[in-house]
Amino acid sequence: MAVVAIVGGQWGDEGKGKIVDLLAEKARIVVRFSGGDNAGHTVINPYGEFQLHLVPSGIFTPEATCIIGNGVAINPAVLLKEIEDLHNRGVGTASLFISDRAHLIMPYHTLLDALEEETRSKGALGTTHRGIGPVFADKVARLGIRAGCLLDKDIFRSRLSAALQLKNAILTKVYEVPPLSLEEIYDQYCRYGEQLAPYIRETSSMIRQAAAQGEFVLLEGAQGALLDPDFGTYPYVTSSSPLAGASCIGAGLGPREIDRVVGVFKAYSTRVGAGPMPTELKNQIGDFIRRKADEYGVTTRRPRRCGWFDAVAGRFGVEVNGLTDIALTHLDIYDDFSAVKICTAYRCEDEVLTAFPSDVTILEKCRPIYEDLDGWQESISGIRDFEKLPAGARNYVSRLEDLLSCPVSLISVGSGREQTISVKALNGESSPSSSRA
Ligand code: IMO
Ligand code: MG
Repeated sequence: MAVVAIVGGQWGDEGKGKIVDLLAEKARIVVRFSGGDNAGHTVINPYGEFQLHLVPSGIFTPEATCIIGNGVAINPAVLLKEIEDLHNRGVGTASLFISDRAHLIMPYHTLLDALEEETRSKGALGTTHRGIGPVFADKVARLGIRAGCLLDKDIFRSRLSAALQLKNAILTKVYEVPPLSLEEIYDQYCRYGEQLAPYIRETSSMIRQAAAQGEFVLLEGAQGALLDPDFGTYPYVTSSSPLAGASCIGAGLGPREIDRVVGVFKAYSTRVGAGPMPTELKNQIGDFIRRKADEYGVTTRRPRRCGWFDAVAGRFGVEVNGLTDIALTHLDIYDDFSAVKICTAYRCEDEVLTAFPSDVTILEKCRPIYEDLDGWQESISGIRDFEKLPAGARNYVSRLEDLLSCPVSLISVGSGREQTISVKALNGESSPSSSRA
């Protein structure tokens, strides 16, 4: 058994929820380690179809303890609604815990997110308006309010009044909008605190203990490598790190504890929000992918931008995460194609680039250089064994492995938990049936 981090390899929405739900069946602990309710993780399993924003995707396995880690920013209203929806559909949350160190999204965070976007005008980043930028800015500015503060009303009140004094000055003087009421927020968050109190506790020691005992611990990421504030397409990024490195900090583990790092990649590329995406297809092929794969944001319902697999960006995602394995999702979306393309390099003015540029203004000028591959034109959704995949699909997977220098250990051929080809076990156990491992 092992500690395994599951992270997004592209621009988010790669299918992390499905992979975590699947692997959680054998897990002792599942920890969400970063992001907030900007994340939307779709899980389809015997309980039905769920869209999770904050609760770890392991919640459907009653034996697994689920933790919202210290690296997550929590909007209590969203979390309480999510818990209520789960209860209404027969999913228990008795094994859910919230780190007392997790920061809280306050009403001024969501308000400022919207006002900042409005001010950016044409340069808007296309955020999810969930208060993510402002809450993580406050965390590092030491102005944040953490979940643990809700357990003591006096401490909460003093933290809130200090923060609100500054926020109201910004709201009224910079943005010229009415101030927020201390009493209203205080009363509202005290009610949230009473409801959330049973879940809030110190959680990092539970995670370290399970890891020390050799239990199977899953660390669930949000977003994807190319939205990382350091390594993503800055400034078109999110505000907490989605990388494997952050899984240690967002849970409270040392880096030596991580045994495997699984990067989830779609068989093609998508991006939602602003910022460059070299392989974007603004044509019938992009529309076809969007329609077939229902590529609309879970959190905002915005249509996702779709395009061919970008192996330059993908290789970068492998490298900055130190991936040991890839979980490749949505391979079945290509079932109707007679030919597919992979971007293997960029042309930038007179230069050919094979490394992902750090400067977004360079990436904006990059045009994809494609390699053509045969498609397979048959349905693969019912296949559970790698060897039974059509030759075109096997070649596609092998070519991605070569280009990304990382093995594909799991392939998803549909949204259901069972629509999965396990090539190599990802929980530290010996390999399953597949002859390819
Ligand atoms: P999951 O976990 C895809 C994008 C937003 C925007 C940028 C900044 O489902 O993969 P933010 O609200 O975070 O300040 O927005 O990041 N974004 C995501 N895109 N999947 C996500 O999460 C995302 N979370 C944020 O669209 O471009
Ligand atoms: Mg999503």
